[in-house]
Amino acid sequence: MNKSYIWPLTNRISHVLLIIFLATSYLLGDYKKLLDYHIAFGVALGVTFAFRFIWGYIGPQYSRFEDFDFSISNLKEYMLTVVSYIFHVGKKSKEYIGHNPASSYAIVAMIVLTFLAIFTGFLAQGIEKNHGIFAFLHSAYFQKMELFSGIHSFFANALIFVIAAHVAGSLVDKYIKKSDAINSMLNGFKRTKELLRVRLNIFQVLFSFIWIGLSLFSLYYMIFTKDNVLLASANVKQDYALQDNSFSKECSDCHMLYPPYLLPKKSWSLMMSNLENHFGEDASLDIITNHSILAFLKKNSAETSTQEAAFKINKELQKNDKTIAITKTNFWKNKHKNVDKSLFSNKEVKNKANCKACHQNIQKGLLDYELIRRG
Ligand code: HEC
Ligand code: HEC
Repeated sequence: MNKSYIWPLTNRISHVLLIIFLATSYLLGDYKKLLDYHIAFGVALGVTFAFRFIWGYIGPQYSRFEDFDFSISNLKEYMLTVVSYIFHVGKKSKEYIGHNPASSYAIVAMIVLTFLAIFTGFLAQGIEKNHGIFAFLHSAYFQKMELFSGIHSFFANALIFVIAAHVAGSLVDKYIKKSDAINSMLNGFKRTKELLRVRLNIFQVLFSFIWIGLSLFSLYYMIFTKDNVLLASANVKQDYALQDNSFSKECSDCHMLYPPYLLPKKSWSLMMSNLENHFGEDASLDIITNHSILAFLKKNSAETSTQEAAFKINKELQKNDKTIAITKTNFWKNKHKNVDKSLFSNKEVKNKANCKACHQNIQKGLLDYELIRRG
């Protein structure tokens, strides 16, 4: 047996980057606070895989797709030898210098699923949050936001499933078949009958530098430029004073100005018909002002907005009776169930209805998650 150099440094470094980017992105996916980092690592993963895809055509021997083994009968035979090794029947397998049939299929599946996961992730982000490159789809599809995040999770989990199979296969290779496939991904060398040595030409060396450089740069860029096109919010600030001066003046006398989209038409009608007894205060207005403010509130009510809060509060209050407080909705209670209760009575916040203490720019109609003040 000879010790042959099969996997150049480019393959080994990009392999490690793929593992780090994928694992980090996947783990961060569950934490809303870290969404920007989830996306950053996902983008870096996409960039690294995109280059791996091109490498499949311009890379050295064994890295090219034409050297992969996609034969179904070889795949079957390979899987049978794996099974027989596990049960110590010890059927001898064919020697694969590059990727064996199982890992050939796994690599292609990983590339395809990664792109589907990234694409559907951007779709979900645009549709649900009105952020990023698919924000233009938000107003047409926001009612389907749960469907799109479900599709994204489906592809992400399918990807993890393929990776789990790939890792399990590699562990069987190493510990049961005693093959040197895993070690070769670290040091580049495999035992082969003939002595082989893969070398990169100057063009491939140059491509490698660009590949690794851009993979790392994309991560750096995504983390340090928060307002880049992939993350930017398309929600626009509203100037309520300009849109309706009496609403903005009269309704911010005793408390902050609540954006009209936080309640549906019927709640506003109910509230405006009983301002004499408004949460224990007399907030009554002359009839003309009252009517004009009500008209403005109805024109911009939850029914007319595509914000997640508006959509969900409206859905809830259509079923429910007489609620006119945002803070009384289950939606509001759910969103704040993990917020430390003592914060609401803190001397800067004073009261849970004082949203602006924690939500920057809520009086300008913005409720983006990134705008929440913490601590
Ligand atoms: C005289 C003072 C006063 C005026 C004027 C006033 N409010 Fe209020 N409003 C209150 C008080 C007190 C509460 C109870 C919550 C709090 O303590 O901030 C309240 C609560 C609310 C809430 C519910 C907040 C929650 O808990 O979800 C809404 C919505 C609201 N007001 C809208 C309006 C609108 C619209 C106007 C203008 C027509 C208005 N208010 C004018 C005193 C006032
Ligand atoms: C004491 C601070 C505080 C106050 C006051 C407060 N919030 Fe929040 N709000 C938060 C925090 C923190 C979160 C994020 C909770 C989490 O990470 O699960 C949040 C989440 C939300 C969300 C969900 C955002 C998203 O993208 O998931 C909405 C909508 C919201 N708040 C609306 C309001 C409204 C409307 C008011 C006023 C009636 C209000 N909040 C008052 C702290 C506050």
